[in-house]
Amino acid sequence: MTEHHSDVRLHAVQADITTLRMDAIVNAANSSLLGGGGVDGAIHRAAGPELVHECRLLGGCKTGEAKATKAYRLPAKCIIHTVGPVWRGGSNGETALLASCYRRAIDIAAARGLASIAFPAISTGIYGYPLALAAGTAVATVRNALLTAPSLREVLFCCFSADDLAHYQALLEP
Ligand code: AR6
Repeated sequence: MTEHHSDVRLHAVQADITTLRMDAIVNAANSSLLGGGGVDGAIHRAAGPELVHECRLLGGCKTGEAKATKAYRLPAKCIIHTVGPVWRGGSNGETALLASCYRRAIDIAAARGLASIAFPAISTGIYGYPLALAAGTAVATVRNALLTAPSLREVLFCCFSADDLAHYQALLEP
């Protein structure tokens, strides 16, 4: 019996995602893909101005979808930009849209044969999605998406705060 996904390393760290040497880092962008605050601002600053030039050619991105670019000055090989939902109370499709962000990002990584990917806690900053709910959706969706992503060996949930890290670690305990 072969279970190619069974040895995937799924873990959480507290870090600045721009410093991670992964095949892909994911950006929690907005639909313009032209930069903003939060992790998006940090990624654009660290990657350098070439990033926004490439993003201008992409024609934006819908909520729940994802598009890849080069990573320029970052140690990662590519950036997968996704647009999370704005939290509007939870009955406006937020869960499905957030899950779609994780699923689409994994699909892009798998299509490129990438081995490692790091996610920030999409939507949980400026977009106001409660972290505990978002983390549950993130972990469940990634676990499921990995079943059809044989190249991926390592998935990192990159947390900005110790509090966020504790939530993820509780979910990832065996
Ligand atoms: N590394 C890792 N995580 C970070 C970093 C970093 N350098 N900086 C912030 N975070 P947010 P959203 C965490 O607000 O809620 C932008 O303006 C942060 O603590 O970056 O999806 C976009 O252009 C939080 O846990 O993204 C959009 O307009 C998580 O990243 C809007 O914000 C996500 O917070 C998107 O809002």
